Amino acid sequence: MIGKGVSAVEEGVKKRIEKLREQINYHNYRYYVLDSPEISDAEYDALMAELRRLEEEHPQLITPESPTQRVGAAPVEAFGVVEHLVPLLSLANVFSYDELLAWHRRASNLIPGRSMDFVCELKLDGLAVALTYSDGRLTTGATRGDGYRGEDITQNLRTIRSIPLSLPKDAPEEFEVRGEVYLSKAGFEKLNEERAREGQPLFANPRNAAAGSVRQLDPRITAKRPLDIYIYALGWAEGNVPPSHWETLEYLKSLGFKISPYNAYVTDISEVENYYQHWLEERENIEFESDGIVIKVNSLDLQRQLGVVGHDPRWAVAYKFPAIQATTRLLDIGISVGRTGSLNPFAILEPVSVGGVTIKQAALHNEEDIRRKDIRIGDTVIVQRAGEVIPQVVGPVVSKRSGEERIFVMPSRCPACGGEVVKPEGEVMARCINTSCPAQIYELLTHFVSRPAMDIDGIGEKLAAALLHSGLVKDVADLYCLCEHEQELIDLERMGKKSAQNVLNAIERSKDRPLSSVIFALGIRHVGAETAELLASHFGSMDRLARASEEELLSVPTIGPKIAESIHLFFREEANLRVIDKMRRAGVRLQAEVAKAKELPLAGQEFVVTGRLEAFTRGEAEAWIKELGGAVGSSVTGKTTFLVVGADSGSKLEKARALGTRLLGEEELRHLLEEANK
Ligand code: IVH
Repeated sequence: MIGKGVSAVEEGVKKRIEKLREQINYHNYRYYVLDSPEISDAEYDALMAELRRLEEEHPQLITPESPTQRVGAAPVEAFGVVEHLVPLLSLANVFSYDELLAWHRRASNLIPGRSMDFVCELKLDGLAVALTYSDGRLTTGATRGDGYRGEDITQNLRTIRSIPLSLPKDAPEEFEVRGEVYLSKAGFEKLNEERAREGQPLFANPRNAAAGSVRQLDPRITAKRPLDIYIYALGWAEGNVPPSHWETLEYLKSLGFKISPYNAYVTDISEVENYYQHWLEERENIEFESDGIVIKVNSLDLQRQLGVVGHDPRWAVAYKFPAIQATTRLLDIGISVGRTGSLNPFAILEPVSVGGVTIKQAALHNEEDIRRKDIRIGDTVIVQRAGEVIPQVVGPVVSKRSGEERIFVMPSRCPACGGEVVKPEGEVMARCINTSCPAQIYELLTHFVSRPAMDIDGIGEKLAAALLHSGLVKDVADLYCLCEHEQELIDLERMGKKSAQNVLNAIERSKDRPLSSVIFALGIRHVGAETAELLASHFGSMDRLARASEEELLSVPTIGPKIAESIHLFFREEANLRVIDKMRRAGVRLQAEVAKAKELPLAGQEFVVTGRLEAFTRGEAEAWIKELGGAVGSSVTGKTTFLVVGADSGSKLEKARALGTRLLGEEELRHLLEEANK
């Protein structure tokens, strides 16, 4: 009685397990082969969980084809050898349409009177494998090896979800399919990112990564790599097979194999060229690395007639895309300074042709990247040129080292200005933070004059460039010396008297910008307009800000270590302090407005200073006037209260006399200011 009950239960479990496997295999197929899942990941996981649980409770019901058994086997010491029943051939290459036509002519001449149609396929850059099935089960998976004998990597290939472990009942009893195991570009990037995080050497390209992954002795490692496969041929089969390659691919697809959706059937060799040109252009958008196309004569009968020469069939040929990688020698590492001060290392290479273009230089990103990839000066390196992007150095060919190679060190001084190079905590780029660095000055100047900064109207990109080019401006503080070079300014291209005067007036007005705008204008990294305001109201003057320690900076609400460090480094640079000092001497207000101007003693009075002063500079005088609430003008008008007259004063004095403006000598000015200050 009891025995019968148990076996009935067992029978029920077995049915349920079979049902689950069928469902999981179907959803696997939808997801991994067709790339069009019907259920959510959670629903799929629930099916797998149930199957796992039932198999754990009834281990006698586990079969090797169960979807739970993809990563079953223990690591091996070495791979066994597999003899290929039918050798895996290689392909002859052609590199131009002319060569393709020559291939076509040779083939046509061998089969006079027979017309040919073709299948075009993308050539996947991975590694060729052969999968043998018997009685509907995957029995062997092997590498190509030398074409006659390969390695037994069955346990690893079983981990690839798009390879069916079992087949429908109508599959041939015994047969072998061939295809290319590959890593998608996205899978490759992800894998390399992971390896970078773990400090492991990076793979140079998806092909190396796929080959390395498939040849792991521990299948659990292979299982973690996002490998995939496209099947591109039937190696051999027992029983009837379709008469053409195209129909064979259709048939294999119907059995559940993953067939490339890029395949195309064409009837004319000129269509092959169209296919080639199309994918050459679209190459960037293919999700895997492809190194060309493969053209195969469609009729299997014609294939047999055409036969093989050496290791290459006459009925198929690879039409290669220009290579995107090449190897060459890294002669040296140069440094270019970016517009925001980043020091960008670049490779100086022994010229090499990559995809028809000669490359002499390539990007190296940053110091850390160079170290991580272990790229040394003198190394043989792999360079890559993909799409429009700048050529990259992928990595060194370590086996070609002589021992003479040198490790790269980032210079401690900026190659453009000699300023100190800093590398802020947690950042990858080394930087020059000198505001007068010629490599950065253009960017800084256009920022400095912008509205939220010093708001100097009239200095657009062209004038900024002309000012730098003419040498009139070498750092941003030089703007405040332009009034002494009025004629040179007028002489600049597209200037003229009126525009020059407008620009000078705008510069003059900017001397009175709020402290927060001046701080923002300096272009300190990580200090935006809002932070600048916080700093201005907290410290009240540029001097106090410049002297602040990192701790003091950190005590300002919302200022974190990154900003504090950046400010601290900025004011440590001598050249930056010189620029600020020059601005101060020119009369730029470097203090916060302490009181409303109208409450100050000189409120409502406008001063114009002309000629050379003896005891203090004109800038100092102007700063003092402003501090006491007075306004400073650049030319004498009806609104001018006083004209301060220094030595050698010119036209302004005449105008003041004509308007009846009150005149002040230097001594009188000093007296007036001292009185006002009381
Ligand atoms: S057919 C005789 N089709 O290219 C037919 N091969 O250089 C030989 N490959 O070892 C294979 N994509 O690894 C064929 N669609 C494709 C292919 C392809 C990539 C590889 C394969 C082969 C090599 C030949």
